[in-house]
Amino acid sequence: MSKRRQFRKLSLPKPKRVKPFEVSAPQSGASAPQLIRGMKDILPADQIYWDFTRNVARAIADAYRFERIDTPIIEDIKLFNRTIGRQTDIIEKEMFTFIDKGGETLALRPEATASIARAYINHGMLNLPQPVKLWYMGPMFRHNRPQAGRYRQFHQIGFEILNEAKPVADAELIAVTSAICQDLGLSVVFAINTLGDAVCRQAYLNELAAYYRSVRSHLCETCKRRLVKNPLRLLDCKEPSCAKLKTSAPQIADFICEDCKNHFMKLLEYLDEVGAAYVLDPSLVRGLDYYTRTVFEIFLKDSDKVDELSRQNALGGGGRYDNLVEILGGRATPACGFAFGIERLISKMRDRNVIIPTTESAKVFLAVLGESAKRRALKLFEDLRRAGIRIAINFSKETLKSQLEVANKLMVDYTLILGQKEVLDETIIIRDMSTGVQEIVDYKKILIILKKKLGL
Ligand code: HAM
Repeated sequence: MSKRRQFRKLSLPKPKRVKPFEVSAPQSGASAPQLIRGMKDILPADQIYWDFTRNVARAIADAYRFERIDTPIIEDIKLFNRTIGRQTDIIEKEMFTFIDKGGETLALRPEATASIARAYINHGMLNLPQPVKLWYMGPMFRHNRPQAGRYRQFHQIGFEILNEAKPVADAELIAVTSAICQDLGLSVVFAINTLGDAVCRQAYLNELAAYYRSVRSHLCETCKRRLVKNPLRLLDCKEPSCAKLKTSAPQIADFICEDCKNHFMKLLEYLDEVGAAYVLDPSLVRGLDYYTRTVFEIFLKDSDKVDELSRQNALGGGGRYDNLVEILGGRATPACGFAFGIERLISKMRDRNVIIPTTESAKVFLAVLGESAKRRALKLFEDLRRAGIRIAINFSKETLKSQLEVANKLMVDYTLILGQKEVLDETIIIRDMSTGVQEIVDYKKILIILKKKLGL
């Protein structure tokens, strides 16, 4: 091919005149709109943690044969009202709800388990090989009081096993949770409890309500109200006066039936077998009403004691929800699941200075000097990238010195240098970054030479 190419003159559209209010830089005196309370930007510097966390979750999901599902962020409010429980904080005060233009009352999802149960029914997943094992990640919304580790938009990674009654499914979830935490460099402990089933729990609820009626005058106003309809929620109250009363409350373990007891004992045997660290927590009830039998929450080992304060900042939580699909109109479908809060995982990874493996980092930097080299570099960069070379470039740096600084920062093995002279000579320079030795090579052979040097 001839070195001198004929270029057609391109007829570019005239640049548009930008009106003053379209420019993105803030005008002097004007204040920029602020982030909404409880929301968070995930900045470029944070993305390395997010990518790593997502990748670890994806790899574990693949290994344990969970399939990905994505459900909409907006759902009919009835879905959550029917499943989460009217006396829970989420339903009483934390839902983002609105009426759409068609007059439907909708909600931004506060969690995804109800949506997964809905999807299981809607898509006839009962006809698939059972159990159905699904996982998801995405944003959830709760209009709660923002504080450290608690946001109004936050993100979860969740795993659900539908149509499996045996305790091995509960144990599998705990194994998945442990595996993810381990791969993220976090060592965790589970707080675990059983809530019995809808039948045996009733005797416990009667006893619990009788106990709390006897100390009613010491309860907060919310608990006084909840005492009538949902006494279990009182065990979840964070008010210091109510939390104190919890220690003398009757314990569910004394009331549950043989089947529920066996389920729980078998689960604990599995956990002993896999060596998962756990503590039994008889007052653990979780903030959602759909749970039956197993409930658990995940905390960081060592620093987080499972006390009232850290309970508000669990890394994740889950349990069994054997009646949820039926509540939504499906057939009886025993199920269990859990979800992590991604922000909380990442905050602990940062606290612990977890090193993120940078396997994807660039090995080669392409330094470009002058206009004709820039034009050639665009294609060369793309050709090398497609051929599997991990390569980086920085078009906004003009001098060789500044580009070599970038290359040094990226800790690449080689820098390719392409200037006007090299373009004319059909050559390119390869600089070995550890020795500083440079060689001039044939431009057309660069891919073969690089592959050999990088051992590809
Ligand atoms: P959850 O305990 O409400 O359970 O939430 C799970 C995790 O999401 C929490 O442990 C926490 O890490 C994170 N999280 C919750 N609220 C916030 C918030 N406001 N800001 C930051 N992170 C938060 C569920 O959502 C259930 N759907 C889990 C489940 C799945 N159960 C069965 N299957």
